[in-house]
Amino acid sequence: MKIPRRQSLTPGLPPPARPDLLRHGLPSARSWILAALVASALALHTGCKKSGAESGAAPAPQNQFVIGMSQCNLGEPWRVQQDADIKAAAAKYPDLKVVFKDAQNDTLRQIYEIEEFVRQKVNLIIVSPKETQPLTAPVAQAMAAGIPVIVLDRRILGTNYTCFIGSDNKQIGYAAGKWIVQALHGKGNVVELMGLMTTTPGQQRHLGFREAIAGTDIQVIFRSDMQWLQSVARMEMESALDRFPHIDLVFAANDDGAHGAYLAAQAEGRAKDMLFVGIDGLPQEGVAWVKQGILNATFQYPTGGAEAIAQAVKIHQGEQVPKDIVLGSRIFEKSNVDQGGQPIQN
Ligand code: FRU
Repeated sequence: MKIPRRQSLTPGLPPPARPDLLRHGLPSARSWILAALVASALALHTGCKKSGAESGAAPAPQNQFVIGMSQCNLGEPWRVQQDADIKAAAAKYPDLKVVFKDAQNDTLRQIYEIEEFVRQKVNLIIVSPKETQPLTAPVAQAMAAGIPVIVLDRRILGTNYTCFIGSDNKQIGYAAGKWIVQALHGKGNVVELMGLMTTTPGQQRHLGFREAIAGTDIQVIFRSDMQWLQSVARMEMESALDRFPHIDLVFAANDDGAHGAYLAAQAEGRAKDMLFVGIDGLPQEGVAWVKQGILNATFQYPTGGAEAIAQAVKIHQGEQVPKDIVLGSRIFEKSNVDQGGQPIQN
């Protein structure tokens, strides 16, 4: 049977092609129009409601202070913690707004992100740089634009910044070295997995460690740059294990590195033959690993996140801030980890 086409009720609206479908619940042209009318009325209503709600909302703080936070990567737990510390500290100040950027461990990207903050005219920049030398110029550019810069953890070259906050990496490296001398009774074969050597913590921790073991019978039989990364540390440790049948201790410039080395040694059934020492002392990482007997010692490296916000608030209020703020460190080892470790002194 031929089905006659129905006439459209409204010019502009196509007639339904299959009138038989109408019986099965497809809307008629009339109901299309009705639906359209209801929809637009609703849209109008919600629109009004929205603007009404907006006008009734608490106004954005007049004196909002925008902080651009340039993080070099969020692939390492210590940096996730640093951002979290900044966020938690900033949450106490309603007029502070922090915009976070993650350079994904790419120096060029971090340079670009700082330049972007400058173009956006943020009120202050906090930067935790990936590398020392390349991040010096973008920080200078921000300073020249009148934007105060707080440098966190890894240094840039020179002193063209507003405030630097970090620990004394040489002192931490030295304390680790002294601990190692004592643990090995001044004698033994050590693998040193250094942090990225284009960064100041990498360089300083290495220098401190070298100074502390100088004049002892401790031999560094294998030394390499694991770039702060557990995966690289594990690979380097595999080479060290292949080459050296007798290793007494692994000193890694961070806990992730020490953990990577431990995993390599454990896979070869050799983890019990040696000690593992790292740096960072995050509760969920290094400290937990000391408790579990994976690491023998870790040295705390505070993130400085809360201090950065404290200084940013002072700058916002027009107060002077110190040029350099040095944060303390603690050692966590088996004997003191349950009591919260102990401050290090050299
Ligand atoms: C994270 C990290 C930490 C280390 C710090 C040094 O990126 O490698 O483990 O203590 O950076 O800058």
